[in-house]
Amino acid sequence: MLAGQKIVIIGGSSGIGLETAKRAASQGAELIIASRSRQKLEQAKAVIGDNAKVSTYTLDVTDEEQVQSFFAETGVFDHLVVSAAETGGGAFLTTPTSAARGLFENKFWGQYYAAKYGAPKLNPQGSITLFSGIVAFKSMSGSSVLGAVNAAVANLGQTLALELAPLRVNVVSPGIIDTPSRAGMAEAARSAFYSSTAAKLPVQRIGTAEDVAEAVLYLIHNGFVTGTVLHADGGHRLI
Ligand SMILES: NC(=O)c1ccc[n+]([C@@H]2O[C@H](COP(=O)([O-])OP(=O)(O)OC[C@H]3O[C@@H](n4cnc5c(N)ncnc54)[C@H](OP(=O)(O)O)[C@@H]3O)[C@@H](O)[C@H]2O)c1
Repeated sequence: MLAGQKIVIIGGSSGIGLETAKRAASQGAELIIASRSRQKLEQAKAVIGDNAKVSTYTLDVTDEEQVQSFFAETGVFDHLVVSAAETGGGAFLTTPTSAARGLFENKFWGQYYAAKYGAPKLNPQGSITLFSGIVAFKSMSGSSVLGAVNAAVANLGQTLALELAPLRVNVVSPGIIDTPSRAGMAEAARSAFYSSTAAKLPVQRIGTAEDVAEAVLYLIHNGFVTGTVLHADGGHRLI
């Protein structure tokens, strides 16, 4: 149970972050959820439920000064989860360099700032959970930059587990998960992608936000686990 624990979830207004927030709230945690869109945050707060202790904060995690101001206001807390990211792909030779840099800006530097300015506010007995992803561990055409971003986050997490100890630092690597992150894809294309991926996976299905939220909750709860990359990918690395 998480009664008496305060958890900050940057990216807690959607997908895996929101599902983690729901589960943590049901275990009695006090939550601060942050993301860029006030509207998404208010909707998420309503979904998490009236009885939960949830505060919201509008934050662009790629803006270093905003991240500093945010942690100046959170006070001391117990666990930090950073699921905030915008991702994308494209052929290496034709993707504009600015778009490639944008992926690092969002998913790598956002998590870097969150860890850097969040760590001094964290209870040393607590934890940080960062997000990598399958394309760091299973190479896929069109994911050269995102794969590099995810590999960088995985490595950052392992070294921070040494430097920030006894604070625990872990990384989750989701496989293909059905979340609003692919809302921009046409419905037919998304559904075909999910079906063809599911057919190849050992578990014969794609993942849910609940699957990955369970992995995050495990990392929050288990005080003996640090410096690990937890793969919640349905066996995707093996095929
Ligand atoms: N879904 C998958 O298949 C999959 C696969 C591998 C890895 N992952 C990783 O898992 C993590 C969670 O993904 P998800 O599928 O749950 O995504 P999602 O449903 O799109 O949620 C992303 C969240 O991040 C927030 N966000 C995005 N950019 C932000 C920024 N600059 N500052 C603050 N908040 C920001 C979004 O809210 P606002 O729009 O309000 O900012 C939203 O709350 C990500 O790191 C993703 O790369 C996902």
